[in-house]
Order: sequence, then structure tokens, then C-alpha cells
Amino acid sequence: MSGSKQITAIKGMNDILPPASARWEWLEDVVRRVMAQHAYRNVRTPIMELTQLYTRGLGEVTDIVEKEMYAFEDRADQHGRADHLALRPEGTAGLVRAVAEHNLLYDGGKRLFYMGPMFRRERPQRGRYRQFHQIGAEALGFGGPEVDAELILLAVALWRELGLTGWRLELNSLGQPDERREHRAALVAYLQAHHDQLDEDARRRLHSNPLRILDTKNPAMQALVEGAPKLLDYLGEASRRHFAAVQAILAAAGVSWHINPRLVRGLDYYNLTVFEFVTDRLGAQGTICGGGRYDYLIEQIGGKPAPAVGWALGVERVLELLQEEGVHTLEPVPDAYAIIPDAAALPQAMRCLQQLRALGVAVQMHAGSGEGMGSMKSQFKRADASGARHALIFGADELAAGEVTVKALRDGAGAQLRQPLAQPDAWADILKSTA
Ligand code: HAM
Repeated sequence: MSGSKQITAIKGMNDILPPASARWEWLEDVVRRVMAQHAYRNVRTPIMELTQLYTRGLGEVTDIVEKEMYAFEDRADQHGRADHLALRPEGTAGLVRAVAEHNLLYDGGKRLFYMGPMFRRERPQRGRYRQFHQIGAEALGFGGPEVDAELILLAVALWRELGLTGWRLELNSLGQPDERREHRAALVAYLQAHHDQLDEDARRRLHSNPLRILDTKNPAMQALVEGAPKLLDYLGEASRRHFAAVQAILAAAGVSWHINPRLVRGLDYYNLTVFEFVTDRLGAQGTICGGGRYDYLIEQIGGKPAPAVGWALGVERVLELLQEEGVHTLEPVPDAYAIIPDAAALPQAMRCLQQLRALGVAVQMHAGSGEGMGSMKSQFKRADASGARHALIFGADELAAGEVTVKALRDGAGAQLRQPLAQPDAWADILKSTA
């Protein structure tokens, strides 16, 4: 091979390698446990969908659909027809598609969760990647405020189980479409009256998506946005009651929140309750989890109308916040490291190792370079580096006696015991790590 240029990963798309991957596995385990406690069940949908699922579902003028989707035309079939496909930028639309397609709500509401990679062509920076991972929880077929509250409490339970403390809950209500229309008319009139103060982005959005103007990061527009008509003032009786009921449940559960009237979320499918869990400890990308109610999305993508609510958290951001907060997780280490001085011992040694593994012992076997097994010294060095608490020595002496040496590597300062090779069930338990 000559010196060809090294191929690297795509910008904004990360490899997740040991030891960091152990933290991912730990987090996923905690999530599975908390989801099970709340009776949410796992779903897995494809990573690609028809592009129109997202243009219809997320809103044509959202940043995601306008500029961030990895969308392309598939190869044409034999009739010359080609599908427009997109890598999923989020999980809700695909899940809703699946729920509608398989008529999952025929016998009542469903509580579901998913984990997996999402793709957005954003400018990569800390906490913002082009392939990132979401864990999402969605409850479909339930219209009451208790499920909004249940989902928020589910997230809070998850933070507690993870040991995460540096977050704040922001809440808002986006009301119903007719209430939004009325507010929108008032908002557009207000913004038009201050047209000279709008930046380019805001002017472009004035008629397509004026609500998003309230979300502006432009400091020069903050005062203008502050004084704009507030959607909360346009909510009708039913919407106000729904919002109050969510808050009453949160208060009784001892969860505190801020009402943020400017919280509008970056996707168009929301109504009534919206919320975000945010932190100041991650710089600009401080939203670790966001969601809300989306009672019209199922219908919008062609399913039977049904209410729904959910959230998704950003795994990278949650892990980074855990790191910031100094939450440590244990790295997995094998219980035992098998030292095999001579390759002739391999068949017997490996048979024993398989038996030990079947008995629940985690064993790492020494492997040679291809030219022999390596010196005892180098094998012991590897055993130490593995973090295992015991070494198993399959030496010629031992095998001749039908035995294996079990040597404590960490505690017990080098205690050695010979054990019968053929009866690993008699001694497997002493290997199992108690740490
Ligand atoms: P979202 O706010 O677009 O909502 O994304 C949810 C979370 O994903 C964010 O709060 C953030 O933690 C993480 N995230 C988003 N983009 C990136 C990125 N480029 N890099 C790293 N992390 C990112 C949704 O996607 C909705 N589907 C949530 C939902 C579920 N609403 C109802 N059900």
C-alpha cells in the first residue's frame, strides 16, 4: 500500500469509542429502566423516510426543512420514477407515520419511546452535530393535560436517575390553531408597524412564520420582541384550563418551572403545551430536551386524527452536562484475564473460558501477535491494563495436573489458588467482581 490520503469521518459526525461508549450504554440502560417504570414501549423506525413526510409534518419554512435536511433523489426505478428521500432530522414524524400506517391506536392510546441517530446539516459546534442522537418519548391517543404532565415527570425521573441537577424547565402554551391565528394577525400588525427594526430574517418570516421571529437571537431585536403581543393573552378558556391543569400536577409533584412566553420551538407541529429543559452550563446549545403537544400532526400526515404529546432529548448534550457536573460512571472491566503461556494450551484454555462465560464470568483472553503468545511478563502487563481483578494462568504445569491457577491481581496481593480445570462451576463465583 502506498501513502494514500487518510479517510476521515464526515464533519459533524462523531465516532463513539471506548471508553466514552460505556457512558452511552449506561445512559441507555437507565433510560430503558425509567421507560419501563412508566410503561413506555420501544419502537424503531427507519432512518430514512420520504422527504414529504418532513415537509408536510415539520413545516416547509422551518430551518430544518428549509436548510438542514439531508435530502436527495433516489435512483430511478425501471419506470423512471425516483423517490425523494431524507435522512430523518428528528423522530416524531417517522413515529407518527408508523403509528398511523399500522393503525396502532385502534385499541386505545400508546406510550412509546425510541433512541437513535438523527441528521441535520447544521454548523457543527459544541453540542451541535450533524449526526446526533435523540431519545424520545411520545404518548399518542391521549388528549388530557395529565399526559403532558406525565411526560414532563418522566423526563424529571430520568434526570434524577442519571444524577443530573443543573437543569431548568421552561413551559409555554401555544394554544389552538384559531387562537394562534388571532394572535398572529395581531403580531404581524405589530411587526409591520415596526418594520424598520426588523432584520432580514425577520422580514422574510413576517408572513411565512412570524411566531419564529419571537425566537430571534439578534440582540438588536430583543426590545421589539419583548413588547410584541403575547400568545398567552390570546388563549381561550379551554386552552387556559389545559395549561393550568398541567401546572397543578407539576406543582403537586414538587417540580418547578418558568413560564417562557417566547418559547415557540423550532418545529411547526405543536399546539397547547410546549416545554424545554435547559441549562446554562453548555454554552449556546443549552437545550437538553424539548417537546410538547402535537394534536394535529397525525391527521396532517394522513392518519386518523388523534391527539399526541412527547419530547426528545439530545444524548450528546445530556452526556456533556453529566460530564460538566462530574457524574462518573463505572467503566466495564472483565472479571478475569486469561494468561496462556503456550499456544498448545489454547484448545483446553478456550474451552474452559467458554464454560466460565456461560456461568456469567466476564473473561478477556490474551491473544498473541500471530507469532506466539508473547512472554509471561507482557501477558501480565496486559492483564493489569485490562482492569481485571483476577488472572487465570493456563500453564503447562497446571494443564498437566488438570488444573488452572487463579491469581488475584488487585486485592489479596498475589494470592494464588489452583482450581480444577474441568469443573469451572465449582470456582467461577470467586471470579465474579463484587466492586
Ligand atoms: P428538537 O428540539 O428539534 O425537537 O430536538 C430535541 C433535542 O435534540 C434538542 O433539545 C437537543 O438536545 C437535541 N438536538 C437537536 N439538534 C441537535 C444537534 N444538531 N446536535 C445535537 N443535539 C441536537 C425534536 O426533534 C422533536 N421531535 C421533539 C419532540 C418529540 N416533540 C414532540 N415529540
